[in-house]
Amino acid sequence: MTALSVNVNKLALLRNSRGHNYPSLEHFATRFLELGVQGITVHPRPDERHVKFADLPALAGIVKNFPGCEFNVEGFPSDDFLQRVIDCQAHQCTLVPDAADQLTSDHGWNLHQHGQWLQPRIARLQEKNIRVSLFLDPDPQQIKLAAATGAERIELYTESYAEAFASSQQAHITEQFCLTAQAAQAAGLGVNAGHDLNLQNLPQFLAIKGVLEVSIGHALMVECIEQGMEHVIRQYLRICAAY
Ligand code: PXP
Repeated sequence: MTALSVNVNKLALLRNSRGHNYPSLEHFATRFLELGVQGITVHPRPDERHVKFADLPALAGIVKNFPGCEFNVEGFPSDDFLQRVIDCQAHQCTLVPDAADQLTSDHGWNLHQHGQWLQPRIARLQEKNIRVSLFLDPDPQQIKLAAATGAERIELYTESYAEAFASSQQAHITEQFCLTAQAAQAAGLGVNAGHDLNLQNLPQFLAIKGVLEVSIGHALMVECIEQGMEHVIRQYLRICAAY
């Protein structure tokens, strides 16, 4: 079974457009968890244009009311970011090499350059019992370096898979993801995945064995608007349970 962690950034964007606490992230996180998802993800960026750092404690508290579910916080490991993740005692922290003003995450870590720099930052989270995952492109060459950082997991950046889905490139690109996931698993790393996954492309992605968690936000929110939240979440949970 693959865990589904719902990224609520887009709800925060909607909320911030009006200046009141509506829609409430706490309300929707609770609803998603009641429907059976296994986690809530947020990606607070330095300009706080969607999820704000002040949202973290309340969301962490809500997730703790659902045993076995996890709160995952994604972001660039600045000192301030790491302290906020520690303060809210997230279960998992996914480290992403984002620039401050980036529209969305668009590449994984180059661990040849940043592996050593990441090590003490990873250790700081782990000392507080927070699992660390590194956002990576589907490149098996990064895996030895990822294991050397001490991180427990990687998150495969799936935009290229989504882009190639249903095209002549799909088999070739999927093979790269498969090889990277296998290399990670052989190195003792757990494998998560995310970015641009949706109800259409997820089943074939999860044919890659042993994906522990997918975090999905953008398409899932659009699908909820179009099809209704309960119907969408039930479809995702069925897909995730089948692999
Ligand atoms: N993983 C990371 C590191 C991300 O930055 C995002 C987007 O915030 C996602 C996963 C989820 O991507 P999407 O919103 O396209 O489902």
